[in-house]
Amino acid sequence: MLVYLNGSLVPAEQATVSTFDRGFIFGDGIYEGLRAFGGRIRALDHHVARLAGGLHEIRLAWDATQLRQIVPALLDANQLDDAFIYLQVTRGTPGPGQARRARVPDGPLAPTVFAFCVPAPTLEQSLEPAGKSAMTAEDFRWQRGHIKSISLGANVMAALMADEHREDDVIFVRDGLVGEGTSTNVVISLDGHLVTPALDSVSILPGVTRALTLSGRSGIEARPVTVAELRRADEVMLVGTLTMVASVVRLDGAPVGDGCVGPAACDLAQALAAQIRANLR
Ligand SMILES: Cc1ncc(COP(=O)(O)O)c(C=O)c1O
Repeated sequence: MLVYLNGSLVPAEQATVSTFDRGFIFGDGIYEGLRAFGGRIRALDHHVARLAGGLHEIRLAWDATQLRQIVPALLDANQLDDAFIYLQVTRGTPGPGQARRARVPDGPLAPTVFAFCVPAPTLEQSLEPAGKSAMTAEDFRWQRGHIKSISLGANVMAALMADEHREDDVIFVRDGLVGEGTSTNVVISLDGHLVTPALDSVSILPGVTRALTLSGRSGIEARPVTVAELRRADEVMLVGTLTMVASVVRLDGAPVGDGCVGPAACDLAQALAAQIRANLR
């Protein structure tokens, strides 16, 4: 496997980063997760824009348009057509004589840029929503959920909690409103309509998959979604780059609808696939 590190493609076992890197010490960086289908990248413009936004928010100067060269080069080097691609940019490693744990770096740093890709299902293999169980949990994360920070300790804690309860995932809720999963956005089917939490109603990530489903022909409405609505939904779905569309068939131990993957999830998966096809480049 070849990975990308600071301008070079190198075998994974030869890619090394300093233990003093601010990504390792502080979780000080931004990441992206992308998908390629049939050798073409899904919604690359969305990812470039979100990465640029996150880097700007944490005041990390790195040109996010480099994603346009790095991702195809990485796929080519690994001869992968259907893949998940991960890229992270950290604020870098303090050099000799520079403070190693200063919150504010005491001099200019070169960002550390690392990316890898792994095989993932084809678009055709992603059309059937998987059935999952989920539990709700009060959102104990920070208030900047729109930033795709590499500091994912709270998301990991939530996923571990779900695992301890033998559930597949957590759906975060805050002040009676539905947020998101630990790596997905939420869509519910309520009285025949699809609804997803509005970005300004809760602190969540503006998922690229969410954006694609909203701009497609699925007719989703973005508005605040209450926990009460989540509980009486006919179907609850999770959408994300790797997940695509999953159907939550059990929520907090009770069946959602008839407890099976429902028609809204299947339709959403088809609509998403159509929207992805139109956005491949
Ligand atoms: C917390 C969170 N919400 C939502 C998503 C879904 O975003 P996307 O569709 O861009 O993968 C992710 C993806 O990693 C995530 O980590």
